[in-house]
Amino acid sequence: MKSVGILGCGWLGKALAQNLIEQGVHVKGSCTSVAKATSLKYAGIKGYVIDLQSYKISGDLTFFDSIEALFICIPPKRGDKTFSLNQSLHHLFNQIPALLKTKILFTSSISVYGNQPGVLTEERKLQPETENAKVLVASEKLILDSSKNSVVIRLGGLIGDDRNPINSLYNKRITNPNGNINFISQKDAVEGLRALLISDAQGVFNLVTPHHPTRKDYYTFAAQKWGYIPPKFSEEEGVKKIVKGEKITHFTSFQYTVNNLLI
Ligand SMILES: NC(=O)c1ccc[n+]([C@@H]2O[C@H](COP(=O)([O-])OP(=O)(O)OC[C@H]3O[C@@H](n4cnc5c(N)ncnc54)[C@H](OP(=O)(O)O)[C@@H]3O)[C@@H](O)[C@H]2O)c1
Repeated sequence: MKSVGILGCGWLGKALAQNLIEQGVHVKGSCTSVAKATSLKYAGIKGYVIDLQSYKISGDLTFFDSIEALFICIPPKRGDKTFSLNQSLHHLFNQIPALLKTKILFTSSISVYGNQPGVLTEERKLQPETENAKVLVASEKLILDSSKNSVVIRLGGLIGDDRNPINSLYNKRITNPNGNINFISQKDAVEGLRALLISDAQGVFNLVTPHHPTRKDYYTFAAQKWGYIPPKFSEEEGVKKIVKGEKITHFTSFQYTVNNLLI
């Protein structure tokens, strides 16, 4: 793969771009402002401004020229309440039909499974509960129907050296203490996305670290690690749900490297 576009070069997209560049891939990255596009340039990424709105795409559409694969790493919602990701993707494919022949890799979320208890694989029926999850289900369908080459990646909660949910939870009562953690580290997310890019794998893949401590164990550990006072937990029974991310390891060369979230 010589040339790749990353639509939505934010926290995850930028780390992916840097990884691919290190492997000799020519990467174009998009964001929504000139200032951010310029900052991508300083990170060695060819930055473009592309802004998807529900019925209009603005920016430098040469971004889509001569790319062999396109990652779409845009969250389902933004501040502007009229934005609808699935509508804007529909509009994008109409405006740039060449994309239908391009390999498309779409980052979705395990929120599409909703709060079903048990062990969930890619085969599990979808039960989106939030508005965002419903938009993701519609976007996944659009992507999978648009191109045979497409890949949908359902990411667990993203964590990294500079990102952990404990930062927003530490002064709140944490719910569902006996429920399981379904996270993915930025490092493994990037490697998993790269493995899917270079493989012939198609369809849907969960990307979730294979260690699922309880929320109580994990957030007690995380508070200590990040220097917060021990968190408080609510007492309801909650939902026990484990999202399995093994399938990708059978279809690509990818293996999880973050196998213990409590160290
Ligand atoms: N956060 C999680 O725990 C989690 C969990 C599961 C899945 N995911 C998925 O992972 C992917 C990456 O997440 P992230 O944390 O890297 O997100 P992020 O840091 O917010 O980056 C999002 C990127 O998309 C761009 N963008 C947003 N709205 C856009 C629009 N309407 N048109 C064009 N570009 C737009 C942003 O541009 P600007 O930089 O200019 O704003 C930014 O470059 C997303 O698909 C998200 O749904 C996240």
